[in-house]
Amino acid sequence: MLQASLTIDPAFSVGEVDPRLYGSFVEHMGRCVYTGIYEPGHPTASPEGFREDVAELARELGVPLIRYPGGNFVSGYRWEDGIGPVEDRPTRLDLAWRSLETNRVGVDEFQKWAAGIGAETMMAVNLGTRGIDAARDFLEYCNLPGGTYWSDLRRKNGAEQPYGIKTWCLGNEMDGPWQIGHKTAYEYGRLANETAKAMRLVDPSIELVACGSSNSSMPTFGSWEATVLGETYDQVDYVSMHAYYEQRGDDRDSFLACALDMDRFIDAVISTADHVRAVGRRKKRLGISFDEWNVWYLKRFEGEANLAIREAPPLIEDVYSVTDAVVVGTMLNSLLRHADRVKIGCQAQLVNVIAPIMTAPGGAAWKQTTFHPFALTSKYGRGTVLRVEPASPLYETKWLGEVPVLDAVAVATPDDGVSLFAVNRSQTSPLTVDVDLRAWPGYRVASHVTIADDDPDAVNTAADPERVVPRSLVVPAVDGGRVTLELPALSWSLIRLEE
Ligand code: AHR
Repeated sequence: MLQASLTIDPAFSVGEVDPRLYGSFVEHMGRCVYTGIYEPGHPTASPEGFREDVAELARELGVPLIRYPGGNFVSGYRWEDGIGPVEDRPTRLDLAWRSLETNRVGVDEFQKWAAGIGAETMMAVNLGTRGIDAARDFLEYCNLPGGTYWSDLRRKNGAEQPYGIKTWCLGNEMDGPWQIGHKTAYEYGRLANETAKAMRLVDPSIELVACGSSNSSMPTFGSWEATVLGETYDQVDYVSMHAYYEQRGDDRDSFLACALDMDRFIDAVISTADHVRAVGRRKKRLGISFDEWNVWYLKRFEGEANLAIREAPPLIEDVYSVTDAVVVGTMLNSLLRHADRVKIGCQAQLVNVIAPIMTAPGGAAWKQTTFHPFALTSKYGRGTVLRVEPASPLYETKWLGEVPVLDAVAVATPDDGVSLFAVNRSQTSPLTVDVDLRAWPGYRVASHVTIADDDPDAVNTAADPERVVPRSLVVPAVDGGRVTLELPALSWSLIRLEE
């Protein structure tokens, strides 16, 4: 049996969790919008055409913020196509995903839907094919109360009150050669800065996100952030990060350790942002908006890239296993460990497209394995993040060398106990964890739920949507301020400590 230990002490505080860390992402891509959140004629459809079964799952997932409408899609998007009478809206060729975009859902429909699931929108503007004018008009349409051309048009279109969208992304992945309107760091930095200035003149209360690198393997990673932030620092509040991980071949050991790579990626972006801050003798510290993260089997996507142009094609509909759910749990832990700087996180995406929620057109909606660690972390991971200083056995990986078997972080919620999120990366052995709880006299283990399975490749499907669900384990007693937990092999766990 492998053995580890950790300490949960309120003195080891990292910072407060911004609830927006549990954000999601809806892109006009594949079946995320059409036959995902929106499907008129579906048995559960609202009068506006939105699937209530999906909305209900989104509420249960616990996503207080949703990034919209892309993604690569936004770099060719004309937001004006999506307003006004639906029958007058154009069908356009979307070049990001070589799809037909009917514009039946636009900003007004999306805002109503997001409000209905209790989420705020993080809106992205097109800095690929468009620029300052389109961005400032869009913001005026959304956030001004009235008395101007665009705000009056919103009222005419049925939304009397302004949307008050607080957070805006200045484009998407502009460092990527695949992006329509791809730019050098300097070109993007200048455009982003001037767009930000104009947007702040329209609505000084907004927050802005500058594009960081698309991933840490980009050849320009690091220098992109330094140049972009050199141009935009005083106008923006966050720099974005994106990361997707997948198991390569049969190397599950490395895949299970990918949150260590995520930790290093975050540390590197923080260092770069702080370097720009120091060079400019600035007071303001930038936050991180980790606005795309997930497990994505990119290899499988290669075959989908050149399919015939059609409406809402099924794109990157990865089916997630128990292993993927455990990895998603570690990625959430990585975000929590950086709660002092990572203020926004968006799991990409919400429905069908590498998503925790799947739908059959005209049929059921169900939870993927990855739904469960996300929903439980969003529900119980609110409050103050605590470092738990784990002492863990190590194992060797091909990708990252020696890595700890145990991945853990705790969150203390005022008047509602402490949640410990713990992963055992060992594929073969349970892990006992000796927990020092002396700083919490009178606390007991109230519950221990885990995601683990004899088959690490087990998945949920339409036919068997509850094949993988969290299971409750017997809870051990606290003795003299210590308790010994047992984490099953290859598992994600939530342990609740209550008074
Ligand atoms: O989430 C899918 C795509 O991944 C997004 O459109 C893009 O920003 C990223 O490359």
